[in-house]
Amino acid sequence: MKFAILGTGVMGRGWITQCSMTGHEVHCYDDNSKILSGAAEASEKFTAKVAKKFKIDDPDFVSKARKNTNTYEDKGAFIEAAKRCDVFLEVIFEDLELKCTVLSELLPQLPEKVVFWSNTSSLDINPMAEAGGRPDRSITTHGMNPVPMMPGVEVVPGARTSAETVEFTRQTLLDMKKAPFLAPNIPGFWVNRLLIPQMLDAVRLLEQGKIRVEDGDIGLLTSLGHPQGTFKLHDFVTTPTMLRVSLEMYHATNDPRMYPPLILIRMVKNGEFGAGSGKGFYDWCDPHKPKARNLSRYVIGSAEDMADHVI
Ligand SMILES: NC(=O)c1ccc[n+]([C@@H]2O[C@H](COP(=O)([O-])OP(=O)(O)OC[C@H]3O[C@@H](n4cnc5c(N)ncnc54)[C@H](O)[C@@H]3O)[C@@H](O)[C@H]2O)c1
Repeated sequence: MKFAILGTGVMGRGWITQCSMTGHEVHCYDDNSKILSGAAEASEKFTAKVAKKFKIDDPDFVSKARKNTNTYEDKGAFIEAAKRCDVFLEVIFEDLELKCTVLSELLPQLPEKVVFWSNTSSLDINPMAEAGGRPDRSITTHGMNPVPMMPGVEVVPGARTSAETVEFTRQTLLDMKKAPFLAPNIPGFWVNRLLIPQMLDAVRLLEQGKIRVEDGDIGLLTSLGHPQGTFKLHDFVTTPTMLRVSLEMYHATNDPRMYPPLILIRMVKNGEFGAGSGKGFYDWCDPHKPKARNLSRYVIGSAEDMADHVI
């Protein structure tokens, strides 16, 4: 199977790794040349991590995956490669208007047979499906972060997605060693419909000075069996993506719980993007030993504090 992947950020790199290490050819592009240039190497490191974690007994596992990975600095060359692919997967910013604009430009250039997948974490597939002009062959495949470590993928058909596309998608994901499951086309689908309000509530409690980062995470780790706490998860998702997802979900639902807490907006403004940027809810100077930050300066207890935080 051949995959064209648009967007090589956090999730794009995860998907590149998943496709290439399961023997599929990947062709990818990102309009940020710096991010694109690091994608193949990041994916190679990811593959090596997977080989170690799952004790894969194949000395060529990493090099074979690397050979399956192709990056394109030139968008035209990427589109030419995408024409020969079975699946076009978009993994760009969580912004419905942006996704629709980009898809309306790119998808009409591809042959009819190419199936369109979106890795959106919350958005309605229908406008994207219509913008791309192939609604029967469009579907959401919401992979979890990090893709090669978390098997689950939400498969979300739109109003006009054909039964063949659903079955093709399910089978292809199984073939990629993923664990697909059907989820409803509502803002946030199944997983984020439950998870995002909880993550935002945690940040609001932090903002009110009711909980500290370390206690909050240890609590969830030791009491609910979470693999990491909610604040560390924020740092892996990245604060800009959390902000985009939360705004999109708020606009789609009008639910005040989805509205981004001020602290999240402030952190994005201050470049505190999470693990990759060195600072988020944790200090990541030593990525092996992240240290919970004291974020008391962000606590909003009074109108005066609020004024200090005006952006
Ligand atoms: N971060 C997570 O934990 C997570 C989990 C599940 C799903 N998602 C979803 O995956 C998608 C991508 O999220 P991410 O975390 O990888 O974000 P990211 O910011 O790490 O990566 C997005 C990439 O898209 C690129 N991009 C933006 N516009 C583009 C365009 N017009 N053409 C080409 N490239 C473009 C950017 O340069 C960037 O590298 C979003 O829809 C997000 O909601 C994210």
